[in-house]
Formats: sequence, C-alpha cells, structure tokens
Amino acid sequence: MKEYQVWAEEVLQKVREKMEWVSEKNQDKIPYTTDANGNYDDRSEEKEWLADDGLNWWTNGFWGGIMWLLYQDTGEERYADIARKSARKLEKCFETYYGLHHDVGFMFLPTAVADYRLTGSLKARRAAMHGANLLAGRFNPAGKFIRAWNEVGESDTRGWAIIDCMFNISLLYWASEESKDPRFRQMAMMHADTVLAHFIRPDGSVCHIVEFDPEKGGMIRSHGGQGYGEGSSWTRGQGWAVYGFANSYAHTGKQEYLDAAKRCAHYCMANIPESGIIPVDFRQPKEPAWEDSCGACVIAGGLLEVAKHVTAPEKDMYVRAAVKILKAIADTRADFGRGCDAIVQNCTGAYHSDTHHFTMVYADYFFIEALYKLTGTGILLW
Ligand code: GLY
Repeated sequence: MKEYQVWAEEVLQKVREKMEWVSEKNQDKIPYTTDANGNYDDRSEEKEWLADDGLNWWTNGFWGGIMWLLYQDTGEERYADIARKSARKLEKCFETYYGLHHDVGFMFLPTAVADYRLTGSLKARRAAMHGANLLAGRFNPAGKFIRAWNEVGESDTRGWAIIDCMFNISLLYWASEESKDPRFRQMAMMHADTVLAHFIRPDGSVCHIVEFDPEKGGMIRSHGGQGYGEGSSWTRGQGWAVYGFANSYAHTGKQEYLDAAKRCAHYCMANIPESGIIPVDFRQPKEPAWEDSCGACVIAGGLLEVAKHVTAPEKDMYVRAAVKILKAIADTRADFGRGCDAIVQNCTGAYHSDTHHFTMVYADYFFIEALYKLTGTGILLW
C-alpha cells in the first residue's frame, strides 16, 4: 500500500466509528446542516407547492449516498435500510412535481441509482428512470442546454444553464446505458458540448451561470452566481467542472471531455494555497478569507477521477494535489468527535450569502467518497 492509502484508511476508520452513531441518531432524518449544538437538521418535511427547500431540497440525495458508501464498505444492512428510508421519502417529490429542478441528478444518483447498482432493486430503477425523464424534460433544444432552476426571485431563468449540471447529466448517461435508448446520452453530450463552448475560459477557470436566449439559443452573458462575481472563479464550480467532465469522458470516451477536465484541473492545482485550505472563490479578495471545505472535497474528488484516466507520472501529480487538499481538511477542518453530527467544517454556500463556515452534508459525502477513491474500495455513483 502507498503512504497516502495507509493515511486514507486511518481516516476512514475514524469515519466508520463516527458514522455508526451519527447514522443511528439521525436515521429518520434527511439532514443538510447542523445547528449551534452540532445536531443535524431535517429537510424531509414537505413544504408548500413551489418551495424547493423542503423534501425537494437539492442536497437530499447525499445522506442516502453516504449510507450506500458505508453499506458497500461494511456490508451492514442497517445502512441500506436508512438509505432506503430517505429514498422512499424523496420519491414523494415526483407526486408533488413543482419545486423539482435540474438537481434531480444530485438527488437520485446517490439514492435510487446507487440502490439499483448495489442491490438490483427494480423499485429504485423506476425512481431513477423517472428522475432521468424529468431531467431530459428540461433540455432546451435551441440552446442545447439543461435549464437550471425554475424561478429565482425576480430573475427570468428560462435561459440559464449552470456548471453544476455537469454532475446532473450523469443521470442521463445512466438512463441511456440502462435503457439502451440513446436520447438521454445525446442530450447529456449536447449539454456538455455547450458547456465546453461557453463556460470554460482559456485559462481553465469556469463561469458558474451562462444565460442563453431561451427561444433562439444564442449566448447572452455570464453571471457570477455563487462565486465572487462575473468573471471570477467559484471553487465549487471549478470542482463540478473537473469532476463532471471526467465523468462525461468516462461515460462517452470523448477525448475533448478529458482534455477539458484536465484544463480545469490544472487551473485548480495552480491556485491551491500553500495551506491546502480552499477559498470560496479563487479570485476573491484576501479579506474576508471565506473558505469552502465542500468545494475543496469536490475538487479533490475530481482530481482523483482525472487521475484514473492517465498514467504515471501524470497520475501522481493529480493524486498528490488531491491528497494535499484532503489532508488539510482531515487535519484542520474535520470533527471526528461527538460534539457535531457532521465531519467537515467551514463550508460556504455562496460567497455573498450572510452565513459562512457551516457544515453541509454533501461536504461529508465528497470527503468520504474521496477517501474511498484513495483506498480503491469505493463505488462511483456518478
Ligand atoms: N449545486 C449547487 C451548489 O453547489 O451549491
């Protein structure tokens, strides 16, 4: 075993010990973040019909995803039971319909698709196919992109596409592989090609949001979104790009996707601070020094996916950068004790939000997933 694998296995042991009581304590919830006392909240209540922060909250697949990662590692049925409990609740979103969004990939890949892949459950396959069809229904043929969000405040979002969807389209790839119907893959590739053409700048940094004319399809402008501003470089979005293009390459073998993943990866690697602590935006001012440990874990996961597709010495470069980030998290931003239900601390939703440095369930997901990538014992849910 390599040194970094021994290290990852040691950290995973702490994760297993912590998740044993965390999962027991929160088995009836679908958590997103922790309160001031370190207790997980619960996003599994159904809200009024247009709300998207209740049961249909976009991160609600990650709790089940963590459970499936632990199930495939330990073989303990109780993790599958908790994952399925959350999945049964999520399926109610299909009945409500309103409030569901582009993030059905984030919701149903780590729950329904994971269950189907690991256990062959046909009930799970049906939910995953349902999610894929909803995602396909968001495709704009004029602009060749998956439409993001529904309504955001006063903004007209009919022509908005976002870098995050490079992850959601894995649900479309899965649906084509599973059904042998190429339509889903065709839409995923058209979306990825649009992102290639309009989101990635020559230096490998990416836009968060690009607005297209929803009728004619032409690009109108970019928006700063959750990053510092227009033309900046939201780190979690960089992670969605690196990891998302690596996934698109894995599903299609199209070389341009791997090249794009590498270009975005090199931009990230050139901007990782000495401390290994990742800011919310690589182009934010020095102060305030807002961090995003979640973006850090997504970037690390993306670098490890790119590493899978290349050979040494190139491979070692990506692995080294990922390990640097993950060690910074494990040594300085992780809580393996009983004071908080979440492990990864200091996450940020968006640079300009009122709150910073809190916990997010998907930071824990991507942290744990990356550790399994290092030990070579995980499954890829994307
Ligand atoms: N997909 C939204 C986010 O990363 O915050």
